[in-house]
Amino acid sequence: MFRYLPEQASDVAPKVDWLHNLITDLSVFFTVAIVGTMLYFAFKYRAKDGVDHETPRIEGSHFLEAVWTLLPTVICVFVGAYGIIIFKEIRETPKDALTINVTARQWKWDFQYENGKQLTSEAVIPVDTPVKFVLTANDVLHSFFIPEMRVKADAIKGRYTYVAFKPVKTGEYTIFCTEYCGTDHSGMLAKLRVVSKEEFDRWVNDQSDKIKYKPAEMGASLYVEKGCKTCHSLDGTKLVGPTFQKIYNRQGTLDDGSQYTADENYIRESILNPNAKIVQGFPHPSPMPAFAGLIDDSQVQSIIAFMKTLDGSAPAAAASTSQFAFAKADTNLSPADRGKALYAAKACVGCHSLDGSKVVGPTFKALYGHDVDLADGSKVKADDAYLKDSILNPNSQIVQGFAPGLMPQNFKDLLSEQDVADIIEFIKSVK
Ligand code: CUA
Repeated sequence: MFRYLPEQASDVAPKVDWLHNLITDLSVFFTVAIVGTMLYFAFKYRAKDGVDHETPRIEGSHFLEAVWTLLPTVICVFVGAYGIIIFKEIRETPKDALTINVTARQWKWDFQYENGKQLTSEAVIPVDTPVKFVLTANDVLHSFFIPEMRVKADAIKGRYTYVAFKPVKTGEYTIFCTEYCGTDHSGMLAKLRVVSKEEFDRWVNDQSDKIKYKPAEMGASLYVEKGCKTCHSLDGTKLVGPTFQKIYNRQGTLDDGSQYTADENYIRESILNPNAKIVQGFPHPSPMPAFAGLIDDSQVQSIIAFMKTLDGSAPAAAASTSQFAFAKADTNLSPADRGKALYAAKACVGCHSLDGSKVVGPTFKALYGHDVDLADGSKVKADDAYLKDSILNPNSQIVQGFAPGLMPQNFKDLLSEQDVADIIEFIKSVK
């Protein structure tokens, strides 16, 4: 009775429907039973022949009380508990699931695949393969709904949510937006095509020359460019910050004793606001600069894509993907240009601006040759000796208004004499 649900196209659909149908049947049964009894009694004990019949006085029944308390309790607890079990099953995503990043915006759905393929208002997925749509939004709240797959989740700006399922039959379905999001909300549809695995492989690799960038490769490059490299190793070594090896979905303890799982939201928060959660055993406050405003959503997603590749299955190599890898070898550059490349490659860029703005460390603008106020009240001239000392022993002379201990102290192992001299040449050139 009342089987009006759409086609079942995912592995979870039968389970969702079974519970849904059970609740519907129970509701119909009890509505009919209660209203039916009420109507029956209303009819049976109606005023007949203009005479009021006195009804017999009935004392309470412990048996009835017990039945109509316990039976609904058992039913409700069963429905609730089974609902939680199915919900957990729906939320658990197999590790090898195909991940597709979805960005909702007024009034379109954008999809991006692991190899960088992008398209709008249409998604293609292979049949019999677990897929995970990771959702976010560019503007207002949206909601991602595929009725035939029985999945739905809000898409929220600044946060990642997801739906996961395994499609069990090929076909074409419609993705709806089910959160009122403005004028064209009702037209915010996308097509979902479920195709055979062979067809999917062909499709996803087709026209790969048109792919603007591969997220994981972009992430590997950002890892060097944004200076993550200085503090986060790829091989499990503990540096200033936690290693990136096997970081995705890593579980551990924070310094306040609570537990964390390094999922998309955790990683995003840790990049934008490093002090929000500090892993046990690492400095508090975090020496990492907050990247909020310095990095956009697609870059965060690329870094996450890069992190996913660091599962320990192969030795990771970020340096080789760096566009700054030339810095050491290329002797054709002038010392100041080499210094500039090192400024980026060694992540000075993360903390020292070139335009006079105060970041984590002092700006390099108009630094060379000028007097610097130190935290102990003394003054020092920013000459070659001072700069060299500050690079190699960052804690020896702290500038007034800046915190000690934030700059990595291992530059004496990372930089040659020549490197230091070149960086100083570069600082000289920043007028
Ligand atoms: Cu997007 Cu409604």
